[in-house]
Amino acid sequence: MTEPSYEYRGLMASTWDFFREDHTFEDRDFYREIINKSGQPVLDVGCGTGRLLLDYLKDGVDVDGVDNSPEMLAICREKAARAGLNPTLFEQWMEALDLPRAYRTVIVPSSSFQLVTDGDLASQAMKRFIDHLEPGGILVMSFFSPVFTDDDDTDSNEWHLLSEKTNPEDYSIVRHWIRGQWDTSTQLQHTENRYAIERNGEIVASETIYQSPALRWYTQHQATVLYSQAGFENIQIYKAFTFVAASEADNTFVIVAEKPVH
Ligand SMILES: C[S@@+](CC[C@H](N)C(=O)[O-])C[C@H]1O[C@@H](n2cnc3c(N)ncnc32)[C@H](O)[C@@H]1O
Repeated sequence: MTEPSYEYRGLMASTWDFFREDHTFEDRDFYREIINKSGQPVLDVGCGTGRLLLDYLKDGVDVDGVDNSPEMLAICREKAARAGLNPTLFEQWMEALDLPRAYRTVIVPSSSFQLVTDGDLASQAMKRFIDHLEPGGILVMSFFSPVFTDDDDTDSNEWHLLSEKTNPEDYSIVRHWIRGQWDTSTQLQHTENRYAIERNGEIVASETIYQSPALRWYTQHQATVLYSQAGFENIQIYKAFTFVAASEADNTFVIVAEKPVH
């Protein structure tokens, strides 16, 4: 059987909320404030299991979601149904976005834009975003750009236990390891994720997902160039997740820009 082309599948999809549920994300209020200013409808790109989308829907925001993983979207739909919500969700790749309506605000949280690792496809995704915005509409995306020192091992083959958590329902232990190579010349990361579920001392499920490349990173300048090449203006770079201008040292940053009115 051939593997699906989308990355977020199997245990990576089904454990996503389990591992992230109790994390506090400061991005929720930040994006909400942008939506309050720039308006609705909103598109949440890479909406996944609906972390932001379902909260905003509950608040009465007119927000649609798009994601290329049917498995993440299925979880989002189940959660929505339990909460009595009925989101409009599209299974599409952001680089080939083709939706029936235009938006006032397009958000791409959790650095998900960086998962489009091919440079041409990334530029294409930017074009798709601007084409899906109303004139004067806003695109906001978060970025993570690693900083390396001479001591960093960018080519490590060592597994690193990223998360370990006990499921209170059946006392199974769920573990997630990661290992990756960072190629500083191409600015690409290659990643292997390993998951295992242990119940009563036995491994009852395990899975390894290798994604190469998995992520492309950008300097603030490179990301700004992408925005302007796509036709955006009033490009602002903020320290994540504040409305304070980013300094060059900020390696997690958010870029907010506007589609020209004319
Ligand atoms: C880091 S997760 C973020 C999920 C969600 N936004 C959150 O913050 O919990 C990235 C999401 O982007 C989706 N994704 C990855 N590449 C994509 C692409 N090319 N087009 C659309 N969605 C993509 C994945 O399936 C996954 O749900």
